[in-house]
Amino acid sequence: MFAKKRIRTALGLAAAGMLALGLTACAGGSDGGDAGGDSGELTTVGFVAVGPEGAWREANEANIQDTFTKEAGYDLKYAPATNLDQKSQIDAFTSFVDAGVDVILLSATEASGWEDSLKRAQEAEIPVILLDRGIEPDDDSLYVTRIAPDNVEVAKEVGAWAAATFPDGGNYVVLEGPAGVGVVNERNEGFDEGLGDASLTKLDAQTANWSAEEGKSVFETMLKANNNDIQLVFAQNDEMGLGAAQAAEEAGLVVGEDVKIATIDGTKSAMQALADGELSYVHEYNPLFGETALDVVEKTLAGEDVDSYIVVPSEEFDSADAAKAVLADRKY
Ligand code: AHR
Repeated sequence: MFAKKRIRTALGLAAAGMLALGLTACAGGSDGGDAGGDSGELTTVGFVAVGPEGAWREANEANIQDTFTKEAGYDLKYAPATNLDQKSQIDAFTSFVDAGVDVILLSATEASGWEDSLKRAQEAEIPVILLDRGIEPDDDSLYVTRIAPDNVEVAKEVGAWAAATFPDGGNYVVLEGPAGVGVVNERNEGFDEGLGDASLTKLDAQTANWSAEEGKSVFETMLKANNNDIQLVFAQNDEMGLGAAQAAEEAGLVVGEDVKIATIDGTKSAMQALADGELSYVHEYNPLFGETALDVVEKTLAGEDVDSYIVVPSEEFDSADAAKAVLADRKY
């Protein structure tokens, strides 16, 4: 239905998109009129979203809603999950197909269980674009593209940092996101790859459900079970890492000396904690890809080629100074 091409970073796509839009505006004359589409009709977008989950999700979903505005020519229908429940997402997805929206954006709470819904959208010729989360099994004939930072590459860089930081080895634990969420497996895969043959010993891995409170309680238990002999925490998101930092402090440990904590997301609170020495390393998982998503929707509805996976560039921050350098104008 939609041609698939190689993976390309979002920057490249956005630049191409801006060029195309610019050319269209020029062709539409000085007032930019007739720059594509009938100005009277809005493109309807069904956004099957995750809803309240933490700072990253809040930034991501606000950015999508701030991008797909009526002024931009869109009628975005936001459908957050009820308590992260997949059934509520499938129900919303089905209602969007039945309503005949022009395009569906999907951030899946669970990776599996989407085949039937995606096939229904395909039969209705409604393109589906995955935001952030992938699906398992990954059948990319069922969706147009996935827009996200590359979880495997992001976590690989965390693992490489850990290997370089502990040349003489040490014990580590992993605080994972919820079981069944695709990015959890991708981040474990990338971290293990990044560790390479480093002599770090994995003592435990448990979910703390993306939450600071659970991150604290789970790490407290891990410390007690291992007599505080843990030198590294890989927390798969900021909130869990911040919780682990609280647990370390309450156990009388100094973050950065007795234990190091690495997280993924790069939200303001984590960058502040990194600047203050309460975290040791933060890898951004850039949530602000609304413009890229809009560009992909426009290309898709125009029947143009779309890459099968559009990678959103994300940076790593490995010191207090690196965090301080970006904190002032941090957008999320
Ligand atoms: O899927 C992205 C993950 O979901 C983020 O890392 C986490 O903070 C969010 O809840």
